Amino acid sequence: MFNIPAKKTASQIIETFKHADFTSDRLTEKFGFSIPPPYHHPQASRFTSQVGEESLTDNLMRLFFLGLPVKSDTLPLQFAQNIFECGLAFADGVLVRPMVLVTPMLQQYVVSDLHPNNTKYADQYVPTLSQPAMHLLSFAITDPGQKVLDLCGGCGPHAIFAGQFSESVTSTDSNPRAKQFVDFNSALNGIENIQAVTGDLFAAIPADKYNLILCNPPFVISPSTTDGFRDNKFELDHLLYKILCEAPRHLEEGGFFQTTCEWVQIRGEEWTERLKNWLKDNGCDAWIIEANCQAPESYASNRLKETSPDQSADSEALDQYIKYFNNKSVEAIRGGLIFLRRRAGANWQVISTLQKKPTRSLSSEIKQGFQTHDLLYSDVNDQTLLGAKLCVPEGLQLYASSSWDTNQWALDTMTIENACGLYSKVSIDETMQTLISSFNGAAPVQRVLESFALTMEIPVEMATTQGLAFVRSLLEEGLLKPSQ
Ligand SMILES: C[S@@+](CC[C@H](N)C(=O)[O-])C[C@H]1O[C@@H](n2cnc3c(N)ncnc32)[C@H](O)[C@@H]1O
Repeated sequence: MFNIPAKKTASQIIETFKHADFTSDRLTEKFGFSIPPPYHHPQASRFTSQVGEESLTDNLMRLFFLGLPVKSDTLPLQFAQNIFECGLAFADGVLVRPMVLVTPMLQQYVVSDLHPNNTKYADQYVPTLSQPAMHLLSFAITDPGQKVLDLCGGCGPHAIFAGQFSESVTSTDSNPRAKQFVDFNSALNGIENIQAVTGDLFAAIPADKYNLILCNPPFVISPSTTDGFRDNKFELDHLLYKILCEAPRHLEEGGFFQTTCEWVQIRGEEWTERLKNWLKDNGCDAWIIEANCQAPESYASNRLKETSPDQSADSEALDQYIKYFNNKSVEAIRGGLIFLRRRAGANWQVISTLQKKPTRSLSSEIKQGFQTHDLLYSDVNDQTLLGAKLCVPEGLQLYASSSWDTNQWALDTMTIENACGLYSKVSIDETMQTLISSFNGAAPVQRVLESFALTMEIPVEMATTQGLAFVRSLLEEGLLKPSQ
């Protein structure tokens, strides 16, 4: 399929991509998104008309992002030779045709299959980057020097990403072609600490333990099992259940498991309890972040649009989905992320709602969230909390709205928000604002509340009792954090 590029060839290819500014920023500027659209996208012809045939940037976008042929004389000679030699494209008369897609991902490039039907290996299609894959990148914990597993790794975006800061990365996938892509992508990006293996879930690494497991599995919940890169053979969300059951024993103490996922809400059951039951007594703290919720009909229709260009076939497929969900009493399909951390002792489970999509790495916010939950929920009593040192997280935002009243501004409302997207806005008043600013990480909570009582001229006891409840809610809303 490919010829793994030699170091020099790989760096020449990457240099051409970078020199031509074939980057996610440029793609977002041009198309409004930076992951390749499905080939049958209803606006595919508009995307094509957005790229010219003159500049190298446009031709690289045309060839490797939209998967269209370009004229061979638009590509630098050495670059053309390099991409032919390693099998990224081939010459067809005066045209160059792509064999794969190449997607810029942060500072790296990820090679994947062109599209599901355009390969003789259609049943072993290796998908390109997706929104969930990008989300997982944003949430991934990037502690250096770790042993990392990329479970259901596909062409290896998370392995390539983790390879930059980790000691070693293993990428596993049941599709043997995925290994070839991971090996290729490692060489293309000059990353040497990735090992790709083939096997069913954890079966490929039966006894190994990791500090970090990243997983963007085929979580789509559907009656179909034909698209192995997104469907799975399990009933409803039981692939997720299986992964959640097995992951803990592959984590080192203190190690994290982070997965994108979808799960169902069954009529008459609390979905929160269902997930909590799945996760109880597994030796891990669990943080479930719900990001979206869809009714079965809209879920089915959205999922079908992703893969099917044929609208007439859709109504039959849609019926199948609806019947499937009805028979299984599915009321809604929810999506989000689940994070586990292996920790001896009494474990906590927290469920929160994502407020907005991440636009940058939230690695430190996720670590901070775990520390905060430890402080709030792991056997912590009032005395421990009073002894804790807290501070205000970077980037907190305060919004004040005032109106003109006779001859001066009168403050109407004040809200404060940890704008990373993990927390919601909270209404506060000026007293609370003053109290929040007094947490500077140096003094324990008790001392902060005592001096606040003195300033406000209120009894210390009252300030401590009420203040402690307030501090808990500030921690829960990400408006305070334990200082390091
Ligand atoms: C949604 S794709 C994600 C790929 C990659 N993690 C990414 O984010 O781009 C899911 C991947 O899981 C793989 N897969 C499906 N079933 C699997 C199984 N039982 N064990 C391991 N991998 C599996 C598929 O081959 C596919 O590459």
